[in-house]
This record gives sequence, C-alpha cells and structure tokens, in this order.
Amino acid sequence: MYDFKPDTALDPVEVHRELLGAADALTAGEPDGTANMANIAALLWEFLPDLNWAGFYRTAPTKDGAGSELVLGPFVGRPACIRIPFGAGVCGAAAESRATQLVADVHAFPGHIACDAASRSELVVPVLRDGAVIAVIDLDSPSPARFGAADAEGIEALAALLSDRI
Ligand code: SME
Repeated sequence: MYDFKPDTALDPVEVHRELLGAADALTAGEPDGTANMANIAALLWEFLPDLNWAGFYRTAPTKDGAGSELVLGPFVGRPACIRIPFGAGVCGAAAESRATQLVADVHAFPGHIACDAASRSELVVPVLRDGAVIAVIDLDSPSPARFGAADAEGIEALAALLSDRI
C-alpha cells in the first residue's frame, strides 16, 4: 500500500517538492509507462487541491497512421476527448510549441477544448524526450486562475522526471 499524506497547509512550492519526491519514489525502477502515468495521475489528484481533471495525453499515431497527434492517456476526472491534433486547444498548443501553457481563463483561450464544462483554468506542460514531445501533463481546475508560477515550475520538474519513465 502507498500512503502518501499531502499536507494541504503547505505553500505551493512545498507541495510540489513533496509531490516530486512521491512521484520519484513511485516510478523509480518501474519500466511500464502506462502504470507510471496512472499512478502519477492519482498522485496529482491527491496532492493538488481544487482540480477537476488531472492526467496525460500521449503523442501517438493518428487513426490512419499517417501522422501523430495527442491521444488520451491515464487520468483522474470526467471522461475526456480522446484525440487532440497538435496545435488544437491548450494541450495541442503545449505540444506544438513545446512550452508550458498556463491559462488563467480557459474561456479567453482561442480554441480551448471543453472536455468538462466545469473547467475554468488549466495548466499543460509538455513531456520531452530527446527534444520531442512524447506526452503532455494536463491539469484543469473549476476555479479561475487556480495555477501559478510555482505550479508551472513544479509540473515542469515532474515532466523532466518522467521523461524516461513513461
Ligand atoms: N482543455 C483541453 C482538452 C483536454 S481536457 O481539459 C481534459 C484543451 O483545450 O486542450
């Protein structure tokens, strides 16, 4: 049994430090990427308050095999859209630009894809391996401007840790 005890009284920098340590402990030595993404999605859900969706989209072949796009991976939250082309929505913007997308108001983001109507703000961080986007980590919140710089930096550190573990 894993029994992580997130301390919700901690400031966001401390929460992310603890989250990163727990993620390292959970995934170290485990080569199965799907298992690792599933556990990390659960960990994000446990450690970070005020979320309505936390999980992964992976770079995978399009249905016709002619290219690649983001395809839904392990997550916690409501059922979500399965395929997102690079460049579409917040996730696709993160994948195409290879840069973190910190969106305080999803309704103001051109092309935002509403998987859950409750979402108000969103943080998407690309996971890079050898310079290529292999996945994105997507966090949604029902609160506007839920995510700040500490969250972006914390999830970027998590993405770096997971680069060769998913
Ligand atoms: N809102 C995302 C789509 C994924 S869901 O939030 C789970 C986007 O605009 O890319």
